[in-house]
Amino acid sequence: MDVVEKVREAVRFLDGSITRKPEIGIILGSGLGDFIKSMDVETSVPYSEIPHFPVSTVDGHSGKLIFGSLAGKHLVVMVGRFHFYEGHPIGEVVFPIRVMKFLGIHTLCISNAAGGVNPSFRVGDLMIINDHIGFSSINPLIGPNEPLFGPRFTDMSEPYDKSLIGAARKVASTLGIDIHEGVYFSVTGPSYETRAEYRMIKLVGADAVGMSTVPEVIIACHMGLRVFAMSVITDLGIRDEANRITHEEVLEIANATSPKLSALLSGLLSEI
Ligand code: HPA
Repeated sequence: MDVVEKVREAVRFLDGSITRKPEIGIILGSGLGDFIKSMDVETSVPYSEIPHFPVSTVDGHSGKLIFGSLAGKHLVVMVGRFHFYEGHPIGEVVFPIRVMKFLGIHTLCISNAAGGVNPSFRVGDLMIINDHIGFSSINPLIGPNEPLFGPRFTDMSEPYDKSLIGAARKVASTLGIDIHEGVYFSVTGPSYETRAEYRMIKLVGADAVGMSTVPEVIIACHMGLRVFAMSVITDLGIRDEANRITHEEVLEIANATSPKLSALLSGLLSEI
């Protein structure tokens, strides 16, 4: 079965359990599930029930699609995402983005946990992503192009929507949340970077590093979605001395920062 037919099957299945089409898609990264507490939830569908969805294997990613509303906007929220390092083919990692587009979304808001590379960053800070450098997988558009999704060659000169960045900055200042803006560097993981790698990532102009987001953004751009993305800085990769990181610590900081991220996302939704 080709990918278009798989997307159609997943969409048909999901359409049957919702009363309103979502307009905005949201991806909540590791430990960032707090946002759904403020939502008016209509339906929650475990990934394992959705035709052709892979099943996420990482602790902290519970794996469900939630439909509901917040700030008057109809949302579809991915609680837990798929990573290339889990062993999923890249086409499966990005499959949910295509499904969300065909469910009706025009805008995608992405969050992730990332290591700080900019020396001015502190653990628990938020960074709006204004550009990226992608080394996290092969390009998810490799293979025959499906014109129903988008063009063969996708422009990536401005993947992150400027007006959404402006709106998020305004919301942050109203809420008194300090916010950074910068470049996200994606790696495959699952090992964290060596000190030399963090130095290289800083040298090429990145501010934060993480193991997701870029394939999702490429697929979103291919389909003409407006994209907003934000990192929670869960650790400071750039350090002179050894700085051991564990996934548990990353999750702990993400959990602690989740309310701040949620407040910002909710505020942004009312501005969209
Ligand atoms: N590197 C890569 N991915 C990450 C990091 C990091 O330092 N922190 C959280 N996710």
